Amino acid sequence: MKDNSTLLVTGGAGFIGSNFIIYWLNKYPESKIINLDSLTYAGNLSSLKTVEDNPNYTFIEGNITNSELVDKIMDDVDVVVHFAAESHVDRSILDPGIFLETNVLGTHVLLASALKNKIDRFHHISTDEVFGSLELGNPNSKFSESTAYDPRSPYSASKASSDHLVRAYGETYGLNYTITNCSNNYGELQYPEKFIPLAITNLMEGKKIPVYGDGLQVRDWLYVQDHCDAIDRVLHSDKSQETYVVGGLTKEVPNIEIVKMIVEIMGKDETQIEYVKDRAGHDRRYSVDWSKINKELGWKPTVSFEEGLKKTIEWYQLNQEWWKPLKIDSKDFFAKNYD
Ligand code: NAD
Ligand code: TYD
Repeated sequence: MKDNSTLLVTGGAGFIGSNFIIYWLNKYPESKIINLDSLTYAGNLSSLKTVEDNPNYTFIEGNITNSELVDKIMDDVDVVVHFAAESHVDRSILDPGIFLETNVLGTHVLLASALKNKIDRFHHISTDEVFGSLELGNPNSKFSESTAYDPRSPYSASKASSDHLVRAYGETYGLNYTITNCSNNYGELQYPEKFIPLAITNLMEGKKIPVYGDGLQVRDWLYVQDHCDAIDRVLHSDKSQETYVVGGLTKEVPNIEIVKMIVEIMGKDETQIEYVKDRAGHDRRYSVDWSKINKELGWKPTVSFEEGLKKTIEWYQLNQEWWKPLKIDSKDFFAKNYD
């Protein structure tokens, strides 16, 4: 792709989207970004303060399910980078309907418009959760590009549907697409309902950290900047109709160990940890074999988990005005989820 391309970024006011926009405009100052975001509870324009006056950045408040609006915007676009989604598994358990509307129907609206407007590339941001759950205790079993889909939550089922639709548009209509299925991200600007920022901010507020079930679940954590780098490499490759799985850790750290690391870095004690009722259908383990993107595009994670966790804790300590109002906004969700 050309360095002066115009990108339509959907969901750019969310966690990964805002990190991506800041990363991209910094690295490719000649490119233009249109950020289409409906500003749900998870969308936050204060995450984008550093770019809001950049003449190459435009924000449009709107819903990806609005085909008239999407068509109008797509007219000037070269590349779509599609982040917009309902992304929280616990919310999908409480209220699945909106996940289907945004993640499935919204993706379809974007695909149809991308095809009509002959955009150069549709890059779809997806998750490793589409592959389901791995057993604990077998470090050699990992998700790869050839793993069969087996989603187990309404969130992952909706993301799996969106992946299938993207591929269907590629196979049936020749849309030029790429997909990345990435593992759990963490880092600055993550909404404080998700596990790592929830743990950090709860400790700062003198509250306990809720650990679901036995706390032995394993996720494959990737620092968000490394995810941005992976997307960058895929966008700059000449690949089409291609999928890459993207992951982080090389050693497995169960949730309870992560909480203990956070407690230790923050100088608190383990009485701040509280085991709570398990999540329904809780996936046991995720682990990603990212050798394809490593071999073909030279990508690998660069930030160790220890280093990334320290940076993340420091960011939440320095940016309390960013997350404190969000925790107040989420009061009803917290009351329902941790009843
Ligand atoms: P997020 O929940 O922080 O942000 C989602 C953004 O999408 C918000 O700004 C929200 O306002 C916007 N949005 C939601 N519905 C919309 C709609 N109908 N129209 C327009 N905008 C809408 O999510 P995130 O963690 O940044 O995840 C971004 C993408 O990456 C998602 O597609 C998610 O499935 C995927 N992903 C996330 C992770 C992770 O660990 N967070 C890992 C792998 C993949
Ligand atoms: P989360 O950040 O919601 O990501 P995902 O469910 O998409 O992997 O959760 C990460 C892990 O942390 C997951 O195993 C669930 C667990 N978890 C808790 O133990 N307690 C919590 O309060 C939350 C939000 C998550």
